[in-house]
Amino acid sequence: MARILSGVKPTGKMTLGNYIGSFRNFPSFQEDNESYIFVADIHALTLPIDPANLRSTTYDVISFYLAAGLDPNKTVLFKQSDIKEVAVLNSILINYIYMGELSRMTQFKAKSAKLNQKKIGVGLFAYPVLMAADIFMYDAEIVPVGDDQIQHVELAHDIAKRFNSRYNAKLLSMPKSVTPKVGKRIMSLQDPLHKMSKSDDPKKQKGVIYLQDSEKDIRKKIMSAITDSEAVVRFDPEKKPGISNLLSIYCAMKKVEISDAEKTFNNCNYGVFKKAVADAVMEEIGPFQKKFFAYRSDEKKLDEIFEQGAIKARQAASVVLERVKKAVGLK
Ligand code: TRP
Repeated sequence: MARILSGVKPTGKMTLGNYIGSFRNFPSFQEDNESYIFVADIHALTLPIDPANLRSTTYDVISFYLAAGLDPNKTVLFKQSDIKEVAVLNSILINYIYMGELSRMTQFKAKSAKLNQKKIGVGLFAYPVLMAADIFMYDAEIVPVGDDQIQHVELAHDIAKRFNSRYNAKLLSMPKSVTPKVGKRIMSLQDPLHKMSKSDDPKKQKGVIYLQDSEKDIRKKIMSAITDSEAVVRFDPEKKPGISNLLSIYCAMKKVEISDAEKTFNNCNYGVFKKAVADAVMEEIGPFQKKFFAYRSDEKKLDEIFEQGAIKARQAASVVLERVKKAVGLK
């Protein structure tokens, strides 16, 4: 039995990549572990976001958690900003991490490069500190994340080591990341060399399957995915990035090996193959969407779930905060 924790930042519309990489994996942890899953709403403020959009996406994310099968009786489901303790732990931790370490973070470099260099928020820079605070706050040992967050979990591990050795006690947990085996890199259907990520650019949105898209749109996007002229369904991400991405999506949905899928579509033309990918996606996403919309339509119920989760999360958080405060001399 281990303590596991993960979160999703409520920004923009969630994609099929979020589903494969996060939502659908989380329930598997709740049977044999103590699982804490939250909506990282404070982290959403690290880039400009409209308040109404943040509020609405926060409800979306918890609805996706529930639709995926997270059970509030088995998993502590909560909202990051409901737990004030994490802000205090964050203020303590910022003193044990170096600016050099934060400037080396790949995500910081990528996200800050897109901003006006004079207007880079301190919160974006310190993003991994708050993420480490999230992890330590609940004594998490296992942190399921996508590839792009592994570096942050490693940094949290380093901070814990430094902090614990400075005070010569096991004060902070030493987290390990776990990443999903299949489909961790779902690429854009229009630009298969780049990740299927949320975007404001309408042209790019054609390559992204949003979890709230209609069946018609999902099918249309898959049927018009970029491929190549070879007309052979074969996994070769370098030479055939489009087809390889569709194969990854198919295999992630059907839970089959790439080599088996290649055999299934041997001698198939791309149209037939794409239709099979669209069917596979809808077979899994269709029922998931139905559940999502049912949960999403009752915000009062979602508020109650957040409230109940916060009570449990606060219990765990206050134990850790007491321990840390005593160790550093704040108590
Ligand atoms: N950074 C994660 C994301 O981009 C969200 C997150 C915040 C998180 N704090 C965390 C994930 C702690 C795991 C553990 O989606």
